[in-house]
Amino acid sequence: DAVNVGIVGGGVVGGGICEILTKKSDYLTALCSDTIEVKSICVRDLDKPRDFEIPEGCSLTDKADDILNSDDIDVVVEVMGGTTIAKDVVFNALSNGKHVVTANKALIADCLAEIEDHLKKVNDGKSAEDSIQFNYEAAVCGGIPIINSLQSDFPGDDIDMIAGIINGCTNFMLTAMDRDGLSYEAALAEASKLGYAEADPTLDVGGFDARSKLKILMRLAYGIDVEESNIPCRGIQELTATDYDYAKSLGGTIKLLGVAQREEDGKVSGFVSPCYIAATDSLSSVNDATNAVEISSSNLQRTTYIGQGAGRYPTANSCVNDIVAIAKGDVNVSPFNPADDGAKFVQQYDSVF
Ligand code: HSE
Repeated sequence: DAVNVGIVGGGVVGGGICEILTKKSDYLTALCSDTIEVKSICVRDLDKPRDFEIPEGCSLTDKADDILNSDDIDVVVEVMGGTTIAKDVVFNALSNGKHVVTANKALIADCLAEIEDHLKKVNDGKSAEDSIQFNYEAAVCGGIPIINSLQSDFPGDDIDMIAGIINGCTNFMLTAMDRDGLSYEAALAEASKLGYAEADPTLDVGGFDARSKLKILMRLAYGIDVEESNIPCRGIQELTATDYDYAKSLGGTIKLLGVAQREEDGKVSGFVSPCYIAATDSLSSVNDATNAVEISSSNLQRTTYIGQGAGRYPTANSCVNDIVAIAKGDVNVSPFNPADDGAKFVQQYDSVF
């Protein structure tokens, strides 16, 4: 028996998924009692040379419908990015009864609530075993398993605070400016060259990419769907050498953080901003493009996840985990009862700016 996968997007992440699935094929077959086979990859340009090997028995197409409408495909993996065509791909795949795995942060930040509603309709009347799964581990902090952790590791706990370095590009820049004395412009050019920056780097340096990720984490940690523009957001563009001198004289450094915390009366607040970090804080040594997410909760107290937030293999690894979970028949549950409208968001960080 086989679990057949169709990948929409034959770029950096799609290629990484193919490589990992091929390399680990024997082990994954034993683990899932099924082989996982990539049957089709949808690419923009069929003639473009690929930097990965097309798996045996896999065909290329330039029409996503070939995958979405194929009776042969069980799992659709959306790694094309963007929020227009990608949204159609995800919704149509779910409507056609296919499991979906995506690495698309922008889409999840924009549409998670809508996708969850759609999924509920698709799964109406189905047993848990037959239900369609939607997994998006790679959408936040690439290789760090933060989505799965928030979905499954805190049922008996209460999360008080999430604080994280959740944008690799700006962390790379801040490290280069602080440690290596690079100028802002040189640091941004280097980050772009290494592939850390978004196509529009304003999303990174303005804090907006971090804000999208924070919004997703807030939904998983607190069950709230916050309008992104309501989350106070300040980027790193205005930081100067003087700021670093101050930070250094206090013995610490500056990091761009996304922070969400539980306030009184079931309210939750959040912001994205450069913050002073003491040298004794574990986040102070998270350098270069590495990401970190720190969760403070009643039972566990402080738990820190540190790892690669982007790149071919870290991101593909998370997608493969999602595919394997589906192949094993794992049922993904939202950590919140949909009948419960969760906490309320309160905007109260304007004063820190
Ligand atoms: N530009 C993003 C970052 C890529 O630097 O974190 C991963 O989301």
